[in-house]
Amino acid sequence: MWTKTELPESLSYLTPQLIEALIDNPYECPVVIDDRGVVRFMSRYNEKLYGLTQTEALGKHITEVIKNTRMPEVLNTGVAQIGKTMKLGNKYRIVARIPLRDKEGKLIGVLGKLMFHQPEKIRDLYFQLEVLKEQLQYYKQEVNQLRKDQCRWEGIIGDSPLMLIAKKEASKAASSDAPVLITGESGTGKELFASAIHYSSKRARGPFIRVNCAAIPQELLESELFGYEPGAFTGASSKGKPGKFELAHGGTIFLDEIGDMPFSTQVKLLRIIQEKEVERVGSTKPKKVDFRVIAATNKDLSEEMKRGHFRSDLFFRLKIFHITTPPLREIVEDIPKIAYSLLSELIQRAGRPSKRISKEVMDVFKRYPWPGNVREMKNVLERALYVAEREEIALEDLPKEMQGFMEIPRQRAPSGPLKEAVAVAERASIEEALKKAKGNKALASRLLGIHRTALYQKLKRYGIRTSPI
Ligand SMILES: Nc1ncnc2c1ncn2[C@@H]1O[C@H](COP(=O)(O)OP(=O)(O)OP(=O)(O)O)[C@@H](O)[C@H]1O
Ligand SMILES: [Mg+2]
Repeated sequence: MWTKTELPESLSYLTPQLIEALIDNPYECPVVIDDRGVVRFMSRYNEKLYGLTQTEALGKHITEVIKNTRMPEVLNTGVAQIGKTMKLGNKYRIVARIPLRDKEGKLIGVLGKLMFHQPEKIRDLYFQLEVLKEQLQYYKQEVNQLRKDQCRWEGIIGDSPLMLIAKKEASKAASSDAPVLITGESGTGKELFASAIHYSSKRARGPFIRVNCAAIPQELLESELFGYEPGAFTGASSKGKPGKFELAHGGTIFLDEIGDMPFSTQVKLLRIIQEKEVERVGSTKPKKVDFRVIAATNKDLSEEMKRGHFRSDLFFRLKIFHITTPPLREIVEDIPKIAYSLLSELIQRAGRPSKRISKEVMDVFKRYPWPGNVREMKNVLERALYVAEREEIALEDLPKEMQGFMEIPRQRAPSGPLKEAVAVAERASIEEALKKAKGNKALASRLLGIHRTALYQKLKRYGIRTSPI
């Protein structure tokens, strides 16, 4: 079998020069041994490596040419060794040892060759990969720490009665593993509460996975939540994909805007919460997943249930703990604390000199209805921080529409404690009536049981501005 014959048909188009270039090249430096371990070919580029010329090496046993060779191992086992490191001269190289067989499959020798001429390059790549891995680990920890810092209970400002109720319910939820439902207007801190619960629960070291049910197109929501098997639908990745529930294994899944979840998905969600088993789209094998669910919405779920948009069984399953985040206008006593806390955070982040909030601005803050709640306040303060020229945020630094909520100084203030008390009560009733009448003075005067001109006089006396709220 190691006798010279004509080249087979399949190689006949190769010229001897091509064959030589193919085999005897400095990039692979091949060595070929026969089934007894005798060198039958050695590239001349190996001379420097082994200290023997091509002709000196031919006919010698491989162990005499390459002291640390492992090619005989391949002769014994018939199994290829690919991508092994080997010291050649004073350098480490990556080599391949490939068994050679004849047409009948009988082992007739072994080919040894370099896989990478410059293994330093791979080492560089490997090194870069290690650095990236390290960095990833570092950032993971940092993100976790940052989140934890942001999600401490102390980060939730406010100690008004409604805030205390919300915090108490949340801290009970944190020490349990049952589902939580958080409802509240936009910008009232639902996500803040959700992450505070996760990071102070026994799942704190596990992932906190947020899914915005309103932002994902309905037809994709189920595959996002539950994952899918390879080829589950057209356009699906050929490898399949784990869903958010699987990613939340060992941690918490935060289903934000759950009020926008399609009715059909709600059924599946209920089953998953009960069984703690997720079935990927296109699969029939359910998988056990260990997660805790926190859901939030700014929709009125009772209303949604009445309209048949939200399943009542899911609602009752979710609200084992029910937290209501209060709107700013119901926690007016917390407004100064929240405003200063947001301001100092903004100042710190922007690296700007600190600023105070003027009394007029704080008064406006307390009267303004804040439809966007704390998030809106943050935006207002951020803008004010940039436009304020003095070290105090003044009325003119607020958006125009907010400036209208300024209280005009009282004219002709009544004197004496009784007069004062009557005035305070009268003023409060007028304001209340105006609020009920949504600024409509004719209606407000009817509610108060006084004539319209009397109302106008009193409005003027107390300096009440009647911007519609
Ligand atoms: N009580 C609070 N103390 C301090 N910061 C708060 C408080 N409530 C909300 N925030 C801040 O206000 C912003 C909005 O909060 P969050 O995103 O949690 O609101 P949300 O209720 O989820 O709003 P949406 O319904 O619009 O999603 C965040 O920057 C949050 O840190
Ligand atoms: Mg939110």
